Amino acid sequence: MVDKTRLYLSEMGVDIFWFRTKPITNHGSDDNLSIIEKNVEDCKKCSLHKIRDNIVFGDGDSSADLMIIGEAPGREEDKAGKPFIGRAGKLLNSFLSSINLDRESIFITNTVKCRPPENRNPSEAEIQSCSGFLDRQIDIIKPKVLVLLGKIAANRLLNQDKPISELRLKKFFIEKYNIPIIVFYHPAYILRSPSQKTKVWDDLKFLKSIISSDDC
Ligand code: URA
Ligand code: SF4
Repeated sequence: MVDKTRLYLSEMGVDIFWFRTKPITNHGSDDNLSIIEKNVEDCKKCSLHKIRDNIVFGDGDSSADLMIIGEAPGREEDKAGKPFIGRAGKLLNSFLSSINLDRESIFITNTVKCRPPENRNPSEAEIQSCSGFLDRQIDIIKPKVLVLLGKIAANRLLNQDKPISELRLKKFFIEKYNIPIIVFYHPAYILRSPSQKTKVWDDLKFLKSIISSDDC
């Protein structure tokens, strides 16, 4: 039925790459996520809690098919308690809208939920301390595709210490989640190296091909 609908729509020229086939079965997931959010608010597991203005839990659709994981909140995110709202976030929004995805239809979070000082990389110990929250978010949201932005998120989920150039444009499957996991350049890197912007288009096309494939 889904395939027929897809065929029909595509013959009409309707862009159907983002066709939600997952039944919305995880009702109540907002409640579950809010329990975790409360735990994050109370969390003092690493020293980042001392300097945060706000935790940045993540936001978007709690039953999203696509979940995006960044690195850590920056200054603006820490002030507002929302992920990806600064310059990198605006660039990310424009990448997503170029393939007809909007922020409300996906779930975006970070590897660590509190801002590291001076935007340094989160340490291995901080990433470990925060890992249970991210794992629980993935378990509840049950996305069909995970996009990891940059090296910190890629290392954390894939356990691979390789440059992004060797990880992007590949599908990873890990034992815990039987869904495609893909790696993108982090938009903050693209802001620093605008000459790499054309590569983002390849990343986006790759994502688009995955979410329009029959596995999604
Ligand atoms: N960079 C990130 O990795 N996450 C944010 O929320 C903002 C910038
Ligand atoms: Fe807790 Fe994570 Fe914040 Fe560290 S970064 S205090 S582990 S929520």
